Order: sequence, then C-alpha cells, then structure tokens
Amino acid sequence: MLNISKVETFYGNIQALRGVDVKVNDGEIVALIGSNGAGKSTLLMTISGVNKAATGEIVFDKKDISNLPPHDIVNLGISQVPEGRRIFSRLTVEDNLRLGASVNQKGKNFDQDAKEVYDLFPVLKDRLLQRGGTLSGGEQQMLAIGRAMMARPRMLLLDEPSLGIAPKLVNQIFASIKNINKEKGVTVFLVEQNAKKALELADRGYVLVNGNINLEGSGKDLLNNPDVQAAYLEGGKK
Ligand SMILES: Nc1ncnc2c1ncn2[C@@H]1O[C@H](COP(=O)(O)OP(=O)(O)O)[C@@H](O)[C@H]1O
Ligand SMILES: [Mg+2]
Repeated sequence: MLNISKVETFYGNIQALRGVDVKVNDGEIVALIGSNGAGKSTLLMTISGVNKAATGEIVFDKKDISNLPPHDIVNLGISQVPEGRRIFSRLTVEDNLRLGASVNQKGKNFDQDAKEVYDLFPVLKDRLLQRGGTLSGGEQQMLAIGRAMMARPRMLLLDEPSLGIAPKLVNQIFASIKNINKEKGVTVFLVEQNAKKALELADRGYVLVNGNINLEGSGKDLLNNPDVQAAYLEGGKK
C-alpha cells in the first residue's frame, strides 16, 4: 500500500533522513520507534507532503506521491495526526471535527462521519460545544484522531499519540487505534517513543536511528530483540 524507498529529507543543510526504506501493507499496523531526534516526525511529515523528500520515492497505491501537495495526499486517503495534537483550542469540538471533514472532498456527510467518531470516542459527543483547549490532554488526542478520521482515510499516520497523556487514557487511545484498524479497516503507521506499547500493538515495526532504518521485524521479534530491549525497553534511553 505504502512503499517508501531511499528517502532523504533535509532541513536546510541538516540531513534528517538518510535513505529510508519502509513498507506498510494494506490492513497492517506498523510501528516506527526511535529516540528523540531520530527523524520519526520528519518521516511522517515527508509522507504527508508537509516536508519534501530531496531524493527517493514514496508510492501509495502505485502512485508516486512524493511531489504532491498535502491536500492531494489527504484526498488520496492518507490522514496525519501530528505530534502535539495541534487541535484548534479556541474552536469547539464540533468545529474541530468539521475542519477535519472539510479537508477531504469525500467528507461531505458530516453527521454520519461524526457519529462514527463519537462511537470511537463517546466523550467527544458530550463535549461538542466545549472549546478544544478546555479538554484534557488525552481528550485532545482523541479529538485529533477523530478529526483525522473525518477525512475518511484509508491510512492513518499517528505521531506519538501517547505523548504527555495519563496512563489510563493512553490505554484507551491504543485500544481505539486497534479498533480503527480492525473494525474500520484503516491501515495504521504509528510513531511512538513508548516502544513497548507500540510493538505490542503492531504487526511489524521499524527502528529508526539517526535517519537510518536500523532494524525491522514483526512486533513480537522486535519486543524480544536484546538490542531493542536495551535501547528502548528496559529503562534505557527512551
Ligand atoms: N524544522 C526543523 N528545522 C531544522 N531541523 C529540524 C527541524 N525539525 C526537525 N529537525 C531536526 O531533524 C532531526 C529529526 O527530527 P524529528 O524528525 O523531529 O525527530 P523525532 O520525531 O524522531 O524526534 C533532528 O536532528 C531535529 O533536530
Ligand atoms: Mg517527533
């Protein structure tokens, strides 16, 4: 479904990605783990077209998307939930969802799409007229995921959904990611510093180190890999 090959991305003359190869198959949950600054967010932003790859190819459903603007990529079916959530804090929950719907021409049936979001995150339905900024961190993350779902994606890019969120809500959010994948058939590419949770959920995973893919394997194999355990799982460098 998504085929990333030899992608290099720069910020000025800082090279953040150094020839990344990643594949995400239709229906999978794939996790990308790695330390702070490894290039995880840069990879997601390069897929969604916010950053541009200097070299390499990003193919989604046989179409090279590496030179498309972000809105075209959304319309092809890829929605991103950015790191730090980026909801509109002064707009209501409902208006945040409307903005998610409006980015995609397919997202015309607001009521039906919103109902699916409320089924995933019932708390949002109780807060429709409340401003986004008054929600808890976990609820804002739910809103950010809900907003992305309003565009009816076939693939969801999630950047650190557990960051800064209370453990109880983290479990709820991971359960909803699983639900989005299994019940709604949305393919998921998940970036996480919480390597344990991400690899437990994922079918497959990749480890990014300094802009390079260092390891790949099934979620289970990576969880059992001594190098992964030492670096990301056992109170080592997170
Ligand atoms: N807007 C930017 N300008 C310059 N350098 C950046 C910018 N964003 C990220 N970087 C650098 O690119 C590298 C990868 O960052 P990032 O993709 O945010 O890593 P991660 O998400 O894995 O923490 C880091 O060295 C970071 O400092
Ligand atoms: Mg990041």
